[in-house]
Amino acid sequence: MKTILITGGAGFIGSHVVRRFVEKYPRLQIINLDALTYAGNLENLESIHDADNYSFVKGDITDPEFIDELFIDHPFDAVIHLAAESHVDRSIKDPLAFVRTNVIGTMNLLNSCRDHWASYEGKLFYHISTDEVYGSLGEEGLFTESTSYDPKSPYSASKAASDHLVRAYHNTYGLPVVISNCSNNYGPNQFPEKLIPLAINNIRNNKTIPVYGKGENIRDWLFVEDHAVAIDTIFHHGQTGKTYNVGGKNEWKNIDLIKLLCRVMDKKLNREPGTSEKLITFVKDRAGHDLRYAIDSSKIEKDLGWEPSVNFEQGLEKTVDWYLENSKWLNNVTSGAYSSYYDKMYGN
Ligand code: NAD
Ligand code: TYD
Repeated sequence: MKTILITGGAGFIGSHVVRRFVEKYPRLQIINLDALTYAGNLENLESIHDADNYSFVKGDITDPEFIDELFIDHPFDAVIHLAAESHVDRSIKDPLAFVRTNVIGTMNLLNSCRDHWASYEGKLFYHISTDEVYGSLGEEGLFTESTSYDPKSPYSASKAASDHLVRAYHNTYGLPVVISNCSNNYGPNQFPEKLIPLAINNIRNNKTIPVYGKGENIRDWLFVEDHAVAIDTIFHHGQTGKTYNVGGKNEWKNIDLIKLLCRVMDKKLNREPGTSEKLITFVKDRAGHDLRYAIDSSKIEKDLGWEPSVNFEQGLEKTVDWYLENSKWLNNVTSGAYSSYYDKMYGN
């Protein structure tokens, strides 16, 4: 039985990855390491909490002694590293927190893999990253795996630094690594500070929907479960030392996306068509706001046979349904009540 360390498994994407691995691979022992910051929530993992092949460890990847002890206690065969500070707006307010977790935290994990893995045979450090490391596109073009790094925000700069460290450990120490850079994810369990869940939550509460600038920035959106499938595919079949871009082939201008979401919300909440759109409010633009992200994911499609399976209209409807059916989750994460959930489950 192999033991896999998944970091950040209580967060948005991590919880979908942990659930998928625990349910699909009973012969893999999954250890979820998460600091349970504001973005981490064990309610996301309620359905697998008691599974025989799953355990949770609360801890901080910025603490090298703690990580070292974890590697002494557990014979990890692989690491799937998702723990991160992940929101651009927060990185503008507090860049140091992003350097600590995303850069130093990643380096601590790399050091422990290097120091504890006596042989690299059958081992893998899989680093989950973002397309934002490539910077901002104009109207044309797509990011490929060979696009030069040109990060623009403190968040993307910290992720770029972590990607470089992962490649440096491969090059210098021969550590077996793989990296994937993915576009914007959406779906259940995303903390309502990112555009889609924030807008759903505000519409539900009849609050304004803040659209930065003129709403003309473009993002490529991928349903989170499709990302979890891509991570599973790369983990099992990706080539060591390689990078894979993962995208949704699904570009939307923010304002068009928000208008579509407003129409879905009106329908779901039985409101007059046009009601939610009245909540759209154009606000001051984000500092250094990247204009456009778009991914060329032909490499993962050709080499590994992965492609997105959920079309955006279906994915958005599933997402809206999930948030409306899980208003308790929304209320909990916005009030910080999930920390008492942790106390209840783990008695701390
Ligand atoms: P998230 O913010 O929802 O979750 C991050 C998780 O990491 C949380 O559970 C948090 O508690 C944990 N964490 C934070 N700091 C920690 C620390 N110091 N020690 C241990 N755990 C810590 O993030 P997400 O959106 O799920 O993103 C997961 C990964 O995927 C990140 O590396 C992110 O850069 C990357 N990514 C995200 C997107 C996206 O659209 N959300 C797209 C591409 C790549
Ligand atoms: P976000 O979800 O923060 O992801 P990222 O910055 O990593 O792409 O933002 C998605 C897009 O939506 C981005 O162009 C910024 C914009 N945005 C708004 O217009 N209003 C908001 O309240 C938020 C959070 C984002």
